[in-house]
Amino acid sequence: PRPIFLTRHGESLYNVRGRIGGDTAISEAGELYAKKLANFVEKRLKNEKAASIWTSTLQRTILTASPIAGFPKIQWRALDEINSGVCDGMTYEEIKKNMPEEYESRKKDKLRYRYPRGESYLDVIQRLEPVIIELERQRAPVVVVSHQAVLRALYAYFADRPLKEVPHIETPLHTIIEIQMGVTGVQEKRYKLM
Ligand code: G3H
Repeated sequence: PRPIFLTRHGESLYNVRGRIGGDTAISEAGELYAKKLANFVEKRLKNEKAASIWTSTLQRTILTASPIAGFPKIQWRALDEINSGVCDGMTYEEIKKNMPEEYESRKKDKLRYRYPRGESYLDVIQRLEPVIIELERQRAPVVVVSHQAVLRALYAYFADRPLKEVPHIETPLHTIIEIQMGVTGVQEKRYKLM
């Protein structure tokens, strides 16, 4: 059985400032996580010559994967974070204060809410379809370094969680989720590296 490893990027400079979206680099803590992740992956996959590392096209995932040596890296646009449209770069406080109606509608229906000029969780789920098809076809392990909203959607798919739970699934930073698909169903392990 081939495992899939899911992880968010290491802490980004926007994470530190509580801002959503953007395309910032990673913090010192994020860099430390990148090293620990590389260590973990190189040990776990040392006999898996066909394994690969998939990132988004955003700096924070590419930087997080960069210390990993010995495996091909593939960038997917479809793994980019949910597009928060006009709210990109804002804090949740700022959205609440400056766009209270938007804040409230998202709170009411986070799955269907679409940011003005951006995406909803449903949009993200839809654009992930080609990624999921490729993941299902892989015979070797894949390490997916992506973002919170995207990983919630991928995790829900593999762990068979209902759609309405997707926007609320816990996906902490600096933690690897290993998913094993066997004949008896899906097995999951979590490694909190920091
Ligand atoms: O920057 C966006 C966040 O990673 C997504 O989190 O959907 O809970 O606001 P949220």
